[in-house]
Amino acid sequence: MEFQDLMSQVQQEAEEGILAAQDLDTLEELRVKYLGRNGILRQQYKQIGDLPEEDRPLAGQALNKANGSLQKLFEGRKSALSDQAEQQKLQAEAIDVTLPGRAPEIGHQHPLLATLDEMIEIFLGLGFVVAEGPEVEDYYHSFEALNYPEYHPAMDEQDTFYVSDDVLLRSQTSTVQIRTMAKQEPPVRIIAPGRCYRRDTVDATHCHTFYQLEGLLVDEDVTFADLKGTLEIFAHSMYGERCHVRFRPDFFPFTEPSAEIALTCTLCGGEGCRICSDSGYLEVGGSGQVDPNVLAGVGYDTEKYAGYAFGVGVERFAMLRHGIDDIRLFYSGDMRFLEQF
Ligand code: DAH
Repeated sequence: MEFQDLMSQVQQEAEEGILAAQDLDTLEELRVKYLGRNGILRQQYKQIGDLPEEDRPLAGQALNKANGSLQKLFEGRKSALSDQAEQQKLQAEAIDVTLPGRAPEIGHQHPLLATLDEMIEIFLGLGFVVAEGPEVEDYYHSFEALNYPEYHPAMDEQDTFYVSDDVLLRSQTSTVQIRTMAKQEPPVRIIAPGRCYRRDTVDATHCHTFYQLEGLLVDEDVTFADLKGTLEIFAHSMYGERCHVRFRPDFFPFTEPSAEIALTCTLCGGEGCRICSDSGYLEVGGSGQVDPNVLAGVGYDTEKYAGYAFGVGVERFAMLRHGIDDIRLFYSGDMRFLEQF
């Protein structure tokens, strides 16, 4: 093929390629292929030397022209593609300021802790102060100081998780009674809210982890009537005057006499329902007059001082408050449950 023909064929191919290129990378490949240092046009310049002497000037001129026009076409296409890429980028990054914003999800207090706060608030109003103790306890504060004889069967229901023979996760907040009395002289008027643990099989009313609210009052002339009156005021403040507090004899090593505390089931108003097993009452905890052995154990003068104590399950109060029939819901982390409060 004649040099000129070959050249115009190359030029045509190159032009078509440049115009068809849809992105800068493709365009750059074409530039290297045709106009690069080892490109096709460079090769053609070299071939001019092989032409007959008289043809060389014309061939040179034609090649220069082709080179110039391809160069121009390339530049033009490059700037067009750059503009296009810029436009696409802008479009992709565009923010629609008219779109409504995404509202952050605002959390709220867990129903269990909200109930606990409500309970604490009532006792603060009655002159109690909040006391605290560790969740990881020792045998002495958990049992010995609470007047549990060694191997006493009352410890069975307090079976818990042991870190070692002497160190365990507390099974009741009654431990805080001992820790508080060891630190101060009467009068004592504390509530101790907190988490407890037991080796219980999890079901609708039991969980290995749960909350209690403990109460302890030690002073001169404290009677069982004071305990009853205080718990009645508390129950009425929580659930209204129609809530009846039922006391029934019970046994706890650290109180004598001891009483189980049950409240009118708020779900059926005492009529009897599934949640209260048709009894009209829901057991919420235990209470009693502090056993003199416990007071003597912390060095209190039992001739002068007496006390009452109680411990209630916070989950029970939250269940009564909201009509919840399964304790596991509190610990499920299920948003469908939590969002209802
Ligand atoms: N600690 C007991 C329990 O978890 C409840 C209890 C009963 C607490 C009597 C008291 C009390 O303070 O006086 O079963």
